[in-house]
Amino acid sequence: MTAEPASRTTPSLTRDQQLALYRRALRTLPGGTNSNFRAWGDATIYVDRGKGGHVWDVDGNEFIDLRLGYGPVILGHGDDRVDDYVNERMRLGVSFSLTSEDEVRAMELVKELNPWVGKARMTVSGTEATMHAMRIARAYTGRDKIVKFEGQYHGVHDYALISVAPDNMAELGDEDNPVGLAWGRGIPGDVAKTIVPARYNNIDALRRLFERQGSEIAAIIVEPVLGNAQGIMPKPGFHQAMRALTEEFGILLIFDEVKTGFRFAKGGAAEFFGITPDIATYAKAMGNGYPAAAFAGREDVMSVLPDKVSHGGTYAGNRIAAAAAVKTLRIIRDTDALDVVHATGRRVQAGLREVLNPTGLPYHFTGHPSMFGIMFSDLEASEYRDWATTDHELYDAIAAGMHARGAMPEPDSREPWFFCEAHAQGDIVDRVVSIFSDSLDAALEARVHGKIGAEPTGAMSHPAAG
Ligand SMILES: Cc1ncc(COP(=O)(O)O)c(C=O)c1O
Repeated sequence: MTAEPASRTTPSLTRDQQLALYRRALRTLPGGTNSNFRAWGDATIYVDRGKGGHVWDVDGNEFIDLRLGYGPVILGHGDDRVDDYVNERMRLGVSFSLTSEDEVRAMELVKELNPWVGKARMTVSGTEATMHAMRIARAYTGRDKIVKFEGQYHGVHDYALISVAPDNMAELGDEDNPVGLAWGRGIPGDVAKTIVPARYNNIDALRRLFERQGSEIAAIIVEPVLGNAQGIMPKPGFHQAMRALTEEFGILLIFDEVKTGFRFAKGGAAEFFGITPDIATYAKAMGNGYPAAAFAGREDVMSVLPDKVSHGGTYAGNRIAAAAAVKTLRIIRDTDALDVVHATGRRVQAGLREVLNPTGLPYHFTGHPSMFGIMFSDLEASEYRDWATTDHELYDAIAAGMHARGAMPEPDSREPWFFCEAHAQGDIVDRVVSIFSDSLDAALEARVHGKIGAEPTGAMSHPAAG
């Protein structure tokens, strides 16, 4: 860590244009944004453009982007290979509610990269993909209930918004009897009751749950890592045991690969962990930021479509999304792009270790090098509730300091840092590490003076929701 006094002074960002846009937007958009997760009050960011591993806000501040739109940008912003291909294809027309060859090519690539997949269909968002995956599981099994792990995020439909991201762990109920906690109003109680919360990484509790209610449970949906809690990893053998348990009880296993798909490996977390799910959902990295998504499954499970289950969508398979998926998936298939992403994450982790080890602070990395978090704690986190025991105030202060110094991780300590192929370019890795180092120094000094939690000028505050 540097001892330069200059590094202790938190730089301030110009935010005049953004504040003006925020006030204007507030008159039209609730919270001034199109998503609760971007509504950060006065600190709401209004973006101008992105290129490679960087973004610029409308005040002209430049950042190394470690959010990457919550993960979709796997190659880099404005990737010419993808954008040129999409441009070329979109000139042929975008929306027909007819089927183009681009869509067939895109789903063939999903199958090729995930060889266990029998059939796949496109949606526009990850939310739609998980909603349809759950419906298919219910239709296939004739059962209504879906098990979901606390702290996992599967989008914003009613069936997904149960026990997602409370700040206060007591709201999740007794450890052995977790409650289904609806995130926000408007979710019908009868819908919420069909979602059974469980605790990630606790196979014994899962067995007890299946023994009690297994005959009513259609599927268990799982983010292979806890993407909404810094990518907490499964304990060794957890996925294998869960797979065996689902087979024993005739319950389908849905891998929600919206964050992990085409990122952890060409075949996503299923390949990475060596698990064959029954259904999977994809989005994000599949289209390098274009709104491409899909659900896919075993041949027999997907055979409920098209006759027995409803699925449609005016924009499902639209040309832009399909072309983006085709080009992005070809790049992932044919180049070493993912190896570059993984190596870049590992280089950043090595740099952070050099900064952190001499401090004696207890910490560990969570997640996969392409998508990892830093938890300040002795305890190796294994489920969402563990996040509350980490020193996330320190993390928050570092994240705010990094933003002020030109790198943009998510301000909420639950969201991992994301890496893309373009982050390997130039001195980005070194800059991330030195920005982290300066921000850590400043945060520790602020703590000594009892000032932690007081956000420096221009820094972000917690988003309205996880
Ligand atoms: C694991 C997971 N599933 C589903 C979703 C929902 O995807 P979308 O935001 O495209 O609706 C997300 C979004 O972050 C996600 O991380």
